[in-house]
Amino acid sequence: MIFYFSGTGNSQWVAEELARRLKDKAVLIPKAKKEYKLGNDEKIGFVFPIYAWSAPKIVFDFINRVRFENVNNPFVFFVCTCHTQTGTIDRIMKKALAKKGLPCQAGFSLRMPNNYLLAPFVKTDSEKKKIQLLAQAQVHLDLIAEKIQKKKNVFQLRRGLGASLLSGIGRPLFEKFMTVKGFYVTDACNRCGLCAKVCPVGNIRVTEKPVWGDHCELCQACLNYCPQQAVQYGHYTKNKKRYVFSEKLLEDS
Ligand SMILES: Cc1cc2nc3c(=O)[nH]c(=O)nc-3n(C[C@H](O)[C@H](O)[C@H](O)COP(=O)(O)O)c2cc1C
Repeated sequence: MIFYFSGTGNSQWVAEELARRLKDKAVLIPKAKKEYKLGNDEKIGFVFPIYAWSAPKIVFDFINRVRFENVNNPFVFFVCTCHTQTGTIDRIMKKALAKKGLPCQAGFSLRMPNNYLLAPFVKTDSEKKKIQLLAQAQVHLDLIAEKIQKKKNVFQLRRGLGASLLSGIGRPLFEKFMTVKGFYVTDACNRCGLCAKVCPVGNIRVTEKPVWGDHCELCQACLNYCPQQAVQYGHYTKNKKRYVFSEKLLEDS
C-alpha cells in the first residue's frame, strides 16, 4: 500500500508509477481511510513532496492517526520528491514512524521540477530542464522500485548542505512565517473555481472570490494551476511562470 500526498502532481505521478511497478495500490492521503488491514510482510510506502526540508504536515497527521491492523513484519519506506534538497527527512520520518511503532527501512528522494515560488529569485524550471528531470526520474523510479521489491535497507537522499540546520531551524521558521494569509487574488480572477477543484485538501471556497480556509498545506496547487495567474502570494509570485505537471512533458522525455 502506498500512501501519497501531492500538490501539483509530481508526487502523485511518482506514487502511481511506483504502484504500477510494484503491482501495489496508491492511496491519496486526504482520501485515505482511518484503518487498514495489512497482509503479512506487506510493504507500506509514503510518497510526498519535500516542504521546507521536511514533509507536509498532513503526512505526519496521517501517520499519527492511521491504524494498521495485523502489523506483521512490514517493509516501510518513503519516497520524497524535491527540487534541490531534502534536509534530514530520513531522521524525521524514522522518528515519526517509530512513534507509531513502525520501522522505516528505506528512503529515497527524486529530483522533480520545482513548484515553489514563495521566495525572491526562486522560479520554475525551463521546459528543457523539466523534460530532463522527468526523463531522469523514470530511470530512478526503476531502480527505486527494484530496491523496494528486494526490501533493501537503504537511504538515498539529496540531503544537501546544512541539512540538520535547515530541517531543525529553517522548517520551524518556515511554519511560523509562511502561512495561508499570504494568498490573495487579483482582478484577473474570473471565479472559474479551478483553485478550489485542484486544492487537495478542499481548503478553498469560491463565492465572490476564492477564500482560503485554515487547513492549507501550502502545496501551491491553487497558485500554480490558476489559468488567469490571478492567485498570488505576497510580493514573491508576480510575473513568475507557474508550474503544472503535464503528461505532455512525459511524452517529450
Ligand atoms: C511549500 C513548499 C516548500 C518546498 N520546499 C522544498 C525544499 O525544502 N527543498 C526542495 O528541494 N524542494 C522544495 N519544494 C519543491 C517541491 O518539493 C517539489 O517541486 C515537489 O516535487 C512538488 O511536488 P508535488 O507536485 O507533488 O506537489 C517545496 C515546495 C513547496 C510547495
